Amino acid sequence: MKKLPYFDYLLASLNSDNETLEKSFGRHVHWGYWESPQHATLSVEDFAEAAENLSKLLYNVTGISDGQAVLDVGCGFGGTIASLNENYTGMRLVGLNIDERQLERARQNIHPIGNNTIEFQHGDACALPFSDHSFDIVLAVECIFHFPSREQFFKEAYRVLKPGGYLALSDFTLNSLLPTGLRGQINNGFFGACDIGYSKDKYHELAQANNFSVCVDRDITQNTLPTYRYLRSLFVQKDQQKTRQSSPFSAIYSTLAIEVASRLRLLNYYVFSFNK
Ligand SMILES: C[S@@+](CC[C@H](N)C(=O)[O-])C[C@H]1O[C@@H](n2cnc3c(N)ncnc32)[C@H](O)[C@@H]1O
Repeated sequence: MKKLPYFDYLLASLNSDNETLEKSFGRHVHWGYWESPQHATLSVEDFAEAAENLSKLLYNVTGISDGQAVLDVGCGFGGTIASLNENYTGMRLVGLNIDERQLERARQNIHPIGNNTIEFQHGDACALPFSDHSFDIVLAVECIFHFPSREQFFKEAYRVLKPGGYLALSDFTLNSLLPTGLRGQINNGFFGACDIGYSKDKYHELAQANNFSVCVDRDITQNTLPTYRYLRSLFVQKDQQKTRQSSPFSAIYSTLAIEVASRLRLLNYYVFSFNK
């Protein structure tokens, strides 16, 4: 897999002790979720709490409880695993990522408490290195658009889930009206290769083709919109400070393209959960 430019940038910035970036993206690398977006204060702490809330929303739609086995695919720096570790006991927590550098950081920072076990394992979402029926829950938080194939990932998630288990994920879903030029801006550049070609209806078809039933399909676009104002404030701060790692132009450009598409409702942000 080609490395993702935004992770190259984050890893370099986190290694140079960038406190704001550490608090914003040192744990979770995803958009924030605000229950009341109009009350977002957009402080660093507010964004960190909103990012934590997105992870909580995703695992809460699975009806999670103590003592379960959870696989977090595309686990980033392990923020969702850390959150589960802090909120549940007796869990088997496994984070999987294609990028060993992110796993190294997760292993250094996250240690089991509350009678939990934690493993961070290298692997591809489309060839999960686990036996059949080994997890109660599979999560994929804001990462499925990077996977080589959603179809293959769904097959693999179904295989490793126990009967009755849940798959939960979040994704930017496509309105077919999205202009082709704008798709190009999102598909490449700072965020690397992203396939944003899926609509809500395609997820329903994919679930059916894999014998999953759809439990939750929730449009949370409005709850994520403050993320863009927060990111803009980070870009401005960095440019004013003229730091060594100033925001790459492609970061500003790609984020603006996603924001415009989201505000025009050409792209929506959805949370799904599926039951095996
Ligand atoms: C936007 S980040 C989300 C990280 C994490 N889920 C979070 O919410 O903090 C996307 C993640 O997907 C991972 N990823 C991309 N392609 C992958 C693949 N084929 N298999 C496993 N992980 C992958 C990336 O390395 C990155 O950690």
